[in-house]
Formats: sequence, C-alpha cells, structure tokens
Amino acid sequence: MRTRSGFIGSHLCEALLASGNRVLALDNYITGSPDNVRALQDNPDFELSQVDVNHGVFIDGDVRYVLHFASPASPPQYDSNPIHTLKVGTVGTMNMLGLARAKEATFLLASTSEVYGDPLVHPQPESYWGNVNPIGPRGCYDEAKRCGEAFAMAYHRAHQVDTRIVRIFNTHGPRMQVSDGRAVPNFMAQAIRGEPLTVYGDGSQTRSLCYVSDLVSGVLAALERGDELPVNLGNPQEITVLELAETIIRLARSKSRVFCTVTAKSRPGSVDGSSAPMRPICVVAASAARLRRDDCARSAARPRLASQPPVHRISRRGPRP
Ligand SMILES: NC(=O)c1ccc[n+]([C@@H]2O[C@H](COP(=O)([O-])OP(=O)(O)OC[C@H]3O[C@@H](n4cnc5c(N)ncnc54)[C@H](O)[C@@H]3O)[C@@H](O)[C@H]2O)c1
Repeated sequence: MRTRSGFIGSHLCEALLASGNRVLALDNYITGSPDNVRALQDNPDFELSQVDVNHGVFIDGDVRYVLHFASPASPPQYDSNPIHTLKVGTVGTMNMLGLARAKEATFLLASTSEVYGDPLVHPQPESYWGNVNPIGPRGCYDEAKRCGEAFAMAYHRAHQVDTRIVRIFNTHGPRMQVSDGRAVPNFMAQAIRGEPLTVYGDGSQTRSLCYVSDLVSGVLAALERGDELPVNLGNPQEITVLELAETIIRLARSKSRVFCTVTAKSRPGSVDGSSAPMRPICVVAASAARLRRDDCARSAARPRLASQPPVHRISRRGPRP
C-alpha cells in the first residue's frame, strides 16, 4: 500500500493501518510534513520515506494498492509551485501508474472538483466535462489533474490496470495547514487569534465542505468497490460563507466578529469569494452497481461543523503555522 503524509494522506494512512494493512507513505514534503504521521512512527506496519514521485518510484516486494495523493492542493500552494504541480499531476501520475502496473496493484488517483473548472452546470455530476481555462492561474492544477485522469484511463485501457479516480471536493479537518488559504483554516486561525473573520462580499456565496473522515470512508469504498470511472466525493449540502464564519466563531467561543469587505473576490477556489460554487452531485456513486448512494452519503452528507469540533481540537492544540 503506497500513500502520502499530507493532510488527507495522513488520515488515509491511519484508516488503512486500522483495517490491517501495511503502509508505505512516500512524500517529498513540498507541502506536507512528517509531523502529520509522527503518531504512526512506532507502528511496525508503517514506513515513511522521502521520495519525489516525479523522479520514478521503484519498490521491492508486493504492493496491493497505489494511492496517488501527491500534489500541492490549495491556490497559494500551486501558485508558488506551478511547474511542480503540473509535473506531479502528469509525470507523477504516470510514474505511480507504472508502479501499479508493475506490481499488478489497484491504482487510485486523488483528482479534484477543479477538473470542472468554472462550472456552467451546478451541482456538478461526473458526466459534466467542465469549463476550464488552461492558461489561467489555476490552469497548472486543473489541467494537471485532468491529464492525470486521462493517464489513468489510458493505463486502464492500454494495460488493463485496475484504476480508480476520485474527484475530491472541499475537505477539511485536523492537520490542515493554516497557511492553506482556504476558508476553514483561515477562519479558524482568525477566530482563535480573536481577529475579525474576513468575508468577501455579503457572505451569501456557498461552500460544500466534507469532513476528512467521511472523505476517507468514500476513498476506501471507491478503492474496494469502485471501477475506472470517476466518482465525486464531497458534501452535497451547501453552507453560506457567512454561516460558516459564524459557526466557527461559536464553536471556538471566540470574541471575533465577521468583517464583510465590499468587493467579492472573483477567483474561484479562493478563500471565500468564489463566484463559481462547487457542489457535487453524486450521480455515478448513487446509481452505479458498485458504489451505492450510502457510500457517497457516508463520505459526504454529514457536515460536522455544527456538532463536531475540528475547531475545538485546533483551539486546544493551536493551529499549525
Ligand atoms: N484538501 C482538499 O480539499 C482537496 C480537494 C480536492 C483534491 N485534493 C487532492 O487530494 C490530495 C491531497 O491533498 P491534501 O489537502 O492532503 O494536500 P497536502 O498538501 O496536505 O498533501 C499533499 C502531499 O503531497 C506531497 N507531494 C507533493 N508533490 C510530491 C511529489 N512530487 N512527490 C512526493 N510527494 C509530493 C506533499 O508534500 C504533501 O504531503 C492532492 O492530490 C489534492 O489535489 C484535496
């Protein structure tokens, strides 16, 4: 089993170990940190290795699953590393598919809702081909993930590799980086510091947010029972950015106030001013034989903000800088 030590990857490692697998996590730490899997270091079934998957991956022994989650994942991160982002989504994906082929392993690609670009369809079903600007600032991420999906389909068709593609929508939870640039960690950090929570526009723009443990359940369901076609994994319920900010203030018992700026940020995917809402419609997950609506719903439909405390956990330990 090969995976990563980033935010989602670290939770996947825990879930895979808990279900009796041996896990080798590969990471070059461009955006992740060994701290994310520090608690696993004494587990004899876990190994962490510093490897850049863009340079090829050669491993002894049998491998059952190859999970490719390596990529800068938020706008500030891929803005700072556009060429690396393109390479890891294309060359890195090809290398991991090569590993899966050599080991006769099942391969899973962490794709993204961003393959839909600035969608003209809302919510987005898997059958929608998207509306992507290849030369815009997000092109390096969106197009790399689209190319990664094409690579997965090509290896499936040409080499019969058993492949999966999961299109992940906004996911949050413990071990997200505060510098990630997305709404949840940004608001949490502001609330904990007692600073105003900056909302662009009137806050009526919406987000769909999936808690990481639900996402991991969906990934494992896709791995075990999916097929080669893409599956949306996310929360089909939306929350306004204003509601999100107020919920975080309440859960953090913060004295912060919401500060609405006059201008809405126009760049989709930015902290909270997206003009193109992203929300999954889980058509394939709901109707296909292998993944049932339950799987999708389990991975998605329980927004935990109201009741469960990523905020509490972060406020006790303090956010990771
Ligand atoms: N978090 C989300 O909401 C979200 C949404 C859609 C898709 N995704 C996808 O899920 C995956 C994980 O995202 P995350 O939020 O955990 O991000 P993350 O930055 O925490 O994790 C990504 C990990 O990949 C590593 N990495 C990057 N390039 C590498 C390379 N060439 N070789 C080895 N390791 C490399 C990073 O160091 C990091 O540890 C990414 O592929 C991302 O595109 C995440």
